[in-house]
Amino acid sequence: MRPKVYITRRIPEPGISLIEESCDVTLHPYDEPPAHEEIVNRIRDKDALLCLLSDRIDKEIIDAGTNLKVISTFSVGFEHIDVAEATRRGIYIGYTPGILTEATADLAFSLLLGVARRITEADRFLRGNRWRTAFSPSLLLGTSVWGSTLGIIGLGRIGKAVARRAKGFSMKVLYTKRTPLSREEELNLGVVYRPLEVLLEQSDFVSLHTPLNDETRHLINEARLRLMKPDAILINTARGPVVDETALVRALKGKWIAGAGLDVFEKEPIGPAHPLLHLDSVVLLPHLGSATMQARSKMAEVAASNLLAVLRGKAPPCWLNPEVENVRPLSRTRML
Ligand code: GLV
Repeated sequence: MRPKVYITRRIPEPGISLIEESCDVTLHPYDEPPAHEEIVNRIRDKDALLCLLSDRIDKEIIDAGTNLKVISTFSVGFEHIDVAEATRRGIYIGYTPGILTEATADLAFSLLLGVARRITEADRFLRGNRWRTAFSPSLLLGTSVWGSTLGIIGLGRIGKAVARRAKGFSMKVLYTKRTPLSREEELNLGVVYRPLEVLLEQSDFVSLHTPLNDETRHLINEARLRLMKPDAILINTARGPVVDETALVRALKGKWIAGAGLDVFEKEPIGPAHPLLHLDSVVLLPHLGSATMQARSKMAEVAASNLLAVLRGKAPPCWLNPEVENVRPLSRTRML
C-alpha cells in the first residue's frame, strides 16, 4: 500500500513530485494555511505530514495522526511543533538546517544596509515625487556601515554567516552566545565575546540570530533597548517574539534607538494598523529570510528527502529527535 502524505502548502519543486513518485499525496493547494481543525481531520489516515512554520503542530494533531510516522517541516525553525509529544509517540521530525543560512544572512545584511542608508525611505521619497533639488548636501543622510561595530546575538550558523559578511565591511564584530566559541574559533572568525548587556551598549548595529524558546522570548525588552546607543539599529531576521514589539515601538518613537530592520514579527502577518507601519525609521519585510529560488527549492528537496527516508526505514538526512528511535525503531516506519 502506498503511504498517505498530507502536505499543507504547495512548496517549490522538486518537493512534491519527489513524494508523489511513491506516495499518495493530499495537498492543501492554497497560499493561506489550512485551519488547525482541517489538519486534525486530514491527518487521521496519513502516514506522513509535510508542514510549514505557520502550521501549529500540537498534541491534538499528533493524537489525531494515529498512523503518523514522520513530520517533516519546510523550515529550520521548529518551535511550531510539539517535539516532545511527537517523540513520545514515536514520530520522526525532519527539518531543513544549513540550506537557508546564506540566504538569511544576505537578507539580514540587506536590512542592515537598507536601514543604515535609508534605502526604502529614499525610494518612497522619490516615488512620492518629492525630489526637487539635484543634489542636496543634507538630504536623507544615513549612518556609516563601514568600520562600525556589529553585535550578533546568537552566533550559530546564520550568526556566523553574518559575521563573515561584516568582515567585508571592516566592522568590529561582537557576539554573545550561551556557550562562547573557543579562542581559536573567535580568531578565525574575527569575533569578540561580550555579555549581552555590554554588547548592546557597545554596538552600532545589533542583529538577532537566536532560536525562539523560553529563554529568548522577549530577550530584547524595554530595559535592554534602553541600553542601546541612540544611533543604533536593530535587525531581526530570527523570530518576532525574541523582541518585545510594544517596547520596540516605544524605543523607536522615543528615539532610544535610531531604527530597525525587521523580517519577523510577534504575530504574522502584521495587520494594517500595526504602529510600525507609521515609522520611517524601519524597514519591514514579510518573513523573507530564506526567500531565494535556490534556497527554497533545496529546502523542498530536503523536506521531501527527510519524509521519504523515514518511510523507507532510513534515518532522515536532517532530523531533530534521534532519540525517537528508542520509541519506534526505523525498521517499524518502513513502508517503501
Ligand atoms: C524560516 O524562518 C525557517 O525557520 O525556515
